[in-house]
Amino acid sequence: MPGRSAGPDRRFRAAGRRQPRRGSPSLSSKTLVFVSSGDVVADRRYEYGVMLGAAGDHAAAADLFAQALELVPGWAAGWFALGTARLAAEDRAGAAEAYRQVLRIDPADRFGAMLKLALIGEAPTPEVAPAAYVRDLFDQYAADFDVALVERLAYSVPWTIADRLERLVPAGDGPAFARALDLGCGTGLAGEALRRRVGWLAGVDLSPAMIAAAGRKGIYDTLATGDLAEALAGEAAGYDLVTAADVLIYLGDLAPVFAGVARVLDPGGIFAFSVQLHAGEPGGPGWVLGEDMRYHHSRRYLESLAAANGLAARLVEDAVCRCDRGLPVDGLVVFLEKPATLGRPAHDPADGAEIDDGLLPN
Ligand SMILES: C[S@@+](CC[C@H](N)C(=O)[O-])C[C@H]1O[C@@H](n2cnc3c(N)ncnc32)[C@H](O)[C@@H]1O
Repeated sequence: MPGRSAGPDRRFRAAGRRQPRRGSPSLSSKTLVFVSSGDVVADRRYEYGVMLGAAGDHAAAADLFAQALELVPGWAAGWFALGTARLAAEDRAGAAEAYRQVLRIDPADRFGAMLKLALIGEAPTPEVAPAAYVRDLFDQYAADFDVALVERLAYSVPWTIADRLERLVPAGDGPAFARALDLGCGTGLAGEALRRRVGWLAGVDLSPAMIAAAGRKGIYDTLATGDLAEALAGEAAGYDLVTAADVLIYLGDLAPVFAGVARVLDPGGIFAFSVQLHAGEPGGPGWVLGEDMRYHHSRRYLESLAAANGLAARLVEDAVCRCDRGLPVDGLVVFLEKPATLGRPAHDPADGAEIDDGLLPN
């Protein structure tokens, strides 16, 4: 992330300076995307393996992937496919061995092998998703992201956040928020929803292709490619709104994020975000890695982080984050405020807006 300087514009790199990698080879969390091994015969074996896997014969698919890897043993995508096929064939030890091989070849872990190992209990759960994995995943999705999410997956978090902010901070003469920071801004859907109410808007995202797409929309005053926790660490106070729409699902441990947000928010400023929900038994973990390769957080955990960082809950709502394979994904949209004066919210809520004492269910 850029170094610190006096003005906000200079703290963020201009959008689009880094070009997205076209045709970036990768595997998403759900689908196997073909990545050539550079060997025609190995590629053919791989393709047969994919076909066999699609037909449900995972053991045969694993055999073909293993045969392909005999020809190209340093092929990370092949090892990842082998891990996936072995897992589907209920060969957990074999899958773990294949995923470990992916990590040996690609320690940055753009395939998310560490997450897979954690899910099968063969490695500790990483505190956040590997940056290379998130970057590759969203570089791959960027071109299709808006249509895929909004139209096919019924994604509505940005508009829910914008709508609830209208209630919490009713319209006045000027912009409701002087300076806003959109964490994990992606292609800028939240920026679009919020723009007319914000005087100056910054966005940060790990994926160069997502940042380039946001840049093309021309709605951010400044954009930066980088990790959001690092971006926060490099920022000074001066924001009255920080948003993270469908982003914290790629981070388990949210302590650095909450600390960073609490520091950059001015008194009265609001932190608006969504999470996927985890039931969170008392004494249990505050966050878990789900089978969907995303992190889920408990209300209790969010409440303790808010309290530890002096943030007060203004509004907490159950929300459907998006649909996944036709099913609604349950989550929360949360609005925390850095109190202007002790015990009193800075913004008087409009009719119907709730001030919550906590995030826990009644
Ligand atoms: C599901 S998209 C949501 C994008 C946008 N907020 C929206 O509502 O459309 C998640 C975004 O978070 C970004 N992201 C995930 N982890 C990140 C991190 N640690 N730092 C910066 N961006 C991150 C991804 O690159 C991706 O663009």
